[in-house]
Order: sequence, then structure tokens, then C-alpha cells
Amino acid sequence: MSRVELRSLLSGITGNIRFDEPMSRYTSFRIGGPADAYVEPADVQSLQHLMARAAGEEVPVFVMGGTNLLVRDGGIQGIVVRLVKLDRIEEEPEPGILYAEGGVLMPRLLKWAMKRGLTGLEFAAGIPGTVAGCVVMNAGTRFGEMKEVVRKIRLVTMTGAIVDVSAAQAEYSYRRSQLPQGVVVGAWLGLQPGAKARIEASVKDSLHRRKATQPIEMPNAGCVFKNPPGDSAGRLIEAAGLKGARIGDAQISTKHANFIVNRGHATAADTQALIRLVGKTVADKFGMTLELEVQIVGRELGKGASD
Ligand code: EPU
Repeated sequence: MSRVELRSLLSGITGNIRFDEPMSRYTSFRIGGPADAYVEPADVQSLQHLMARAAGEEVPVFVMGGTNLLVRDGGIQGIVVRLVKLDRIEEEPEPGILYAEGGVLMPRLLKWAMKRGLTGLEFAAGIPGTVAGCVVMNAGTRFGEMKEVVRKIRLVTMTGAIVDVSAAQAEYSYRRSQLPQGVVVGAWLGLQPGAKARIEASVKDSLHRRKATQPIEMPNAGCVFKNPPGDSAGRLIEAAGLKGARIGDAQISTKHANFIVNRGHATAADTQALIRLVGKTVADKFGMTLELEVQIVGRELGKGASD
């Protein structure tokens, strides 16, 4: 689809709209080529309109949280949506139940719960993503995962309808869900009343530990690989002798081997080459196949859309 056609498809959609927008601005890796069109819908209704129109014209829509993601250097075809404007958190009448919109950042949600003495989200301390991203990928840490708190999920379907699905329908497993196709625009979470001081202490402890063990001071996309059952990807990569290995400006963190950091000007191509090197070395040395946790999207360089 040409820029002119994309412009006309998006006319009348309320929110911020930009064309050929570099995705490196929005990814925690600070890597990624331009999206043909980039939209921050003003509200759920605008997103519904956008989805319906895009479906009608068969234009792909990609929803970007941006934290567990590698966008290739050629950028993303079609429309990239970010839910930053969907940022409401509300208490529901039922005690302990809250509704958080998809664009709410997890650190903000955690603070919100802490302020109200609600316990259950402490496991998420230090997770930088959005509620939508965390709900879709069942984000978690050693201390828990989203599936323990998610009660119900609201989606806008690929054709623009709103549907609510139960947590059971999401069929959660390790860093994965089987949600129907669509855009998660919010979720109901169940928390319990707890002692504020204890919640705060637990969060502080996790953040402290994370700072000591993970390279949070450099652009990264979280853990690159899933932990294989009963083992740790970080331990394996370190044992394979890869800590500090570098291709271009992409480097295996010297702090935690399951992180790749961008030392400044890393490209997606550098990062993917490093990911392949890790996969091959760990397979050769230990006979283990590491599964990617980071999602890789977009097109190779030189395959951008025409005007
Ligand atoms: N280890 C090494 N070398 C390293 C890194 C780790 O030997 O370079 C060893 C550690 O010494 C430890 C073990 O591996 O014995 C596990 O390491 P760690 O405690 O750092 O936890 P992890 O299993 O590597 C998981 C999650 C993280 C989450 C932390 C803290 C996965 C893939 N990773 O990491 O999640 O922050 O626990 O709860 O599930 C993410 O999902 O993006 C992520 C970073």
C-alpha cells in the first residue's frame, strides 16, 4: 500500500499519527527501522475504527509494547500501534479487582497497587513493559507470573469488535498465551489487601537484586532466551564462554549472559548474528536448543515499502 493510500486509510482516526517513523525511538533496545505508519490511538474507539479499516484493506497491524522485542533494520510493514494513550487504572466495585488499560506501564501499576496496600504484583518489580505486553506474553520473574493475577482480558478483534475473554481462555503457559487474535486493550487483575510495609520491602529488594544482576543501565530487550526446563539460559551462555562476546555494537552482557546490550549503534543484523552465535555455540557445547523469548519482527534492510 502506498503512503497516499495509508494516509487516506488513517484519515479521521484520532490520535498521534506519523509516517516512516523509526521504531528505534520506541524499543527498549533502541534498535529498529521505520514503520510505514505509526499510530497512538486516542482511545479504544479510535483503535476499533483503525482495526476495522485496516482489516478491510488487508493492511497488517502490529501492536508494539517495545520491551521484549527486536525490530529488524528494514522496519515494519503496515501500521504499528502503540497504546500509550490507553493509560487508565480503575478500582472495580469488587474488592481487590482493578482494571488496567493496555498502555499502562507495569512500574506505574505496581506503584498504584503499593499505594493502596494491595499485594500480588510484587513479582513484577522491575518488569519495564506495558500491561498489554505482559498479559500477552505472561511476563514474569522467579517470583511469579501474570497468569496468577489476570482474571479477564479485553481485546479489540482484528475487525474492530470488543470481546472479553477469561484468563482460562488465555491458556497461559511459560511466557506464552493462546489469546484470540486482536489487541489487548485492558485487563482485570485480582489482588489482595496486604501490609504496605511488607509490599514495599519486597519490591525494593527485587529492584535492588535486579540492578545488581541485570544490565538495566544499557539498552536491552530483557532476557533473550527462555530458561530451558530445570536450567538457566544465562548460566549456559556464560558456561559456553560467551559473556562479553560482541558483533558490531551488540554485546552479550558482561553482567548477565542472557541479556544482549546495545553499546550505542547496534543494528538488528548485528543482534541477530549474535543470537545465532549463542544458539549454535550452546547447541554444539551442551546439546541444548535455546528457545527465543525476545520476539523478532519486521523486514530486512532494503525491503522497505515504496511511495
Ligand atoms: N547465571 C549465570 N550467569 C549469568 C546469569 C545467570 O551463571 O550470566 C546463573 C545465576 O547465577 C543463577 C541462575 O543463572 O544461578 C539464574 O539467574 P537469575 O537469578 O539472574 O535468573 P534468570 O533465570 O536468568 C529469570 C527471568 C528474568 C527475571 C529473573 C529474576 C527468564 C528467562 N528470566 O532470570 O526475566 O528478571 O529471573 O526473577 O525467565 C525476562 O523475562 O526478560 C527476564 C529478564
